Amino acid sequence: MPKTRTDSTDGNSGTATAAPPKTKPASPAASSTANAGPALEIKDQRTNKSYSVPVADGAIRATDLKKINSGDPDDPGLMSYDPAFLNTAACRSAITFIDGDKGILRYRGYPIEQLAESATFLEVAWLLRHGELPSQTEYDKFVHEITYHTYVHENMRKFLEGFRYDAHPMAMLNSTVAGLASFYPSARNIFDAEERHISIIRLLAKVPTIAAACYRHVKGLPFIYPDNDLPYVENFLSMVARMSESKYEANPVFTRALETLFILHADHEQNCSTSAVRAVGSSHVDPFSAISAGIAALFGPLHGGANEQVLRMIGEIGHVKNVPAFIEGVKGGKGQRLMGFGHRVYKSYDPRAKIVKKLADEVFAIVGVDKDLEIALELERIALQDEYFVSRKLYPNVDFYTGLIYRSMAFPTDFFTVLFAIGRMPGWLAQWEEMLLDKEQKIARPRQIYTGPAERSYKPTLNQNSARKKAGKKDALRQ
Ligand code: CMC
Repeated sequence: MPKTRTDSTDGNSGTATAAPPKTKPASPAASSTANAGPALEIKDQRTNKSYSVPVADGAIRATDLKKINSGDPDDPGLMSYDPAFLNTAACRSAITFIDGDKGILRYRGYPIEQLAESATFLEVAWLLRHGELPSQTEYDKFVHEITYHTYVHENMRKFLEGFRYDAHPMAMLNSTVAGLASFYPSARNIFDAEERHISIIRLLAKVPTIAAACYRHVKGLPFIYPDNDLPYVENFLSMVARMSESKYEANPVFTRALETLFILHADHEQNCSTSAVRAVGSSHVDPFSAISAGIAALFGPLHGGANEQVLRMIGEIGHVKNVPAFIEGVKGGKGQRLMGFGHRVYKSYDPRAKIVKKLADEVFAIVGVDKDLEIALELERIALQDEYFVSRKLYPNVDFYTGLIYRSMAFPTDFFTVLFAIGRMPGWLAQWEEMLLDKEQKIARPRQIYTGPAERSYKPTLNQNSARKKAGKKDALRQ
């Protein structure tokens, strides 16, 4: 299928795809000649040869290193070795900007503080995908489309009913979102702009419905259908919490708090789950499968699962008097990390954490102060002045206080990461589409440095049927 950009069918100024840059940015690999622009001079001491590698946007092309060869005809050329992509840009992206040293986060140029204060989540979702804020007409149409697609196929309910009562909601969410691919086979036409558009709408619209159904299943409560008279966040809360009342009315402080948290989580450039969405999506699989890979990555305790782990850690600490001993344990390398602290990119206070802390005060003013807030504050106080954390630039991240807010709103601990996933959905989708429309992108396929044995010969030494024969005997004895 050709990678062409076709117009959106929604008539919204043809912006169903991320707008391509007006002028093509300078490509670091445009030329490998020394005169074309700034370059890195490299001398290979193995061969005494010198090379000039172009530098653009503060980067060299890793593929330019291939021309640096040891002289051995079997040498495929130099690679860069970068486990966990500590210093490797794998894409160009116009979506999110982070300056980790200064604690800056911007979506499409807009500071996170301003969006968290005044925007709606769906406005931000539009912004992330299209690059500009929506006009009133675009916004109204977008909200209408999302609202129209909140229902899920009834078979999805049966699918959810198959899970055990104690299934983790992230496992349920992940597999149910993957299952959506079986309901929308045409979503595999990923280079058809209309198909991409409707898939994106479906994911934004249905994920809160599925998430709420996961919650109700675990609680043994009947599923609640979407109430399409309600805005996005209120509708989600209604599907989670409504009992016998004919209309669910959410507490406006909770609604705004949740909306703000969704905005804070909406995108965070090339984090683990977004990289997973991009990598899996680069195989040209359908978006439901690619997004489920992102949900799987988010589940991990070092990523989105940290919000759940913060509360479990605080529960284990139990009392503020135990905080110093716990901190000493973390420093002593007993395997326990201070969950909700540290970040690959932020080497100062996570700007999202600052907003979350303020939000927590607003929520606690309504429901009363969380019993574990004292422990969290003491952990933060000690860590911010302890040499171990200071020298490693470990500050509270977004997950440190979110759990306390979610708990105040009566969400169970293992549901916290599901809330993160709802918030991250627009970012995953915008990044997925940006990756697909980026002509430089190919199927993700990192290199490796092989460390295993050299070639050796296989000689059969086993009785290959022995295990099966033994199992057969055992079964026979049981009869
Ligand atoms: N507690 C104690 N020590 C830590 C922590 C922590 N939370 N985070 C990092 N360190 C230490 C680590 O042991 C290492 O020390 P040393 O140099 O002596 O070996 C040093 O700091 C650097 O750590 P790293 O593992 O190389 O850092 P990273 O960039 O690979 O990891 C991180 C980033 C977020 C995975 C890590 O800080 C961490 O595990 N934090 C706790 C989990 C957490 O809160 N995750 C949520 C991240 S924010 C939300 C999201 O986007 O997912």
